[in-house]
Amino acid sequence: MYQILKKEMLSDKIYLMVVKAPRVASGCLPGQFIIVKIDEEGERIPLTICDYDRNEGTVTIVFQTVGASTERMALLNEGDAFDDFVGPLGQPSELCIEANLEETKKKKIVFIAGGVGTAPVYPQVKWLKEHGVDSTVIIGARTKDILFYEDEMRAVATELYLATDDGSYGFHGNGCQQLQALIDAGKSFDHCVAIGPMIMMKFVCLLTNELGIPTVVSMNPIMVDGTGMCGACRLVVGDEVKFACVDGPEFDGHLVDFDQAMARAKQYKTEEGRALLKLQE
Ligand code: FES
Repeated sequence: MYQILKKEMLSDKIYLMVVKAPRVASGCLPGQFIIVKIDEEGERIPLTICDYDRNEGTVTIVFQTVGASTERMALLNEGDAFDDFVGPLGQPSELCIEANLEETKKKKIVFIAGGVGTAPVYPQVKWLKEHGVDSTVIIGARTKDILFYEDEMRAVATELYLATDDGSYGFHGNGCQQLQALIDAGKSFDHCVAIGPMIMMKFVCLLTNELGIPTVVSMNPIMVDGTGMCGACRLVVGDEVKFACVDGPEFDGHLVDFDQAMARAKQYKTEEGRALLKLQE
């Protein structure tokens, strides 16, 4: 059992939990994810790792309530425990691999985090700071109330920009428009990481493609087993079919077929869609 040591509501429908999971904490790297199960019958819920403490043996996860399983998860409290907490799964971020450090140090990196995508951006920025690499971070949210982790991100980012769609805080516009404004103001970047809703990542990639900035995205399709066996998380990347759970979750954003990924995600929202996709697999 994996005990919840801390629970915090970060904003409307977004929760943070610190979970005692020493084995995952000892081996995980930014970019990777875990799959939790509340109990025997519970659905498997994939979540990116937001932070980890190897000494304490803890892993921090952040999730948004989007359906029955995450609603159930939000009812858990400090002292409760998950039945299963499997990981680390997937590939670590290329930026956060020691062997790539010299190359990474040469890059002018900008992160664009959208909504709950702030959570997986945070450990990457933190890792880079700990390894002497500068990064610019843009956090975009619909409105001020759902923006979270501002102070935490400010502590690790070299520069932090906040953007809200309704102008209630920071730049009035989305993350994409904030990036364009920075470029217009004379800033330059040669590597972008965009993590957030698929539609946001799609538009960031359209812009960075025009600007000639290589861009990495973290894909969050439906996952079932998380081990490359079920095919639920398959994506089209360039000419290839990839599985987000084992090949990703990060991919070259300029090669991802976002329209196909979004259509698939939509199908999975209905029972009929799920049945249809099962037949196709
Ligand atoms: Fe089953 Fe990726 S979740 S193949």
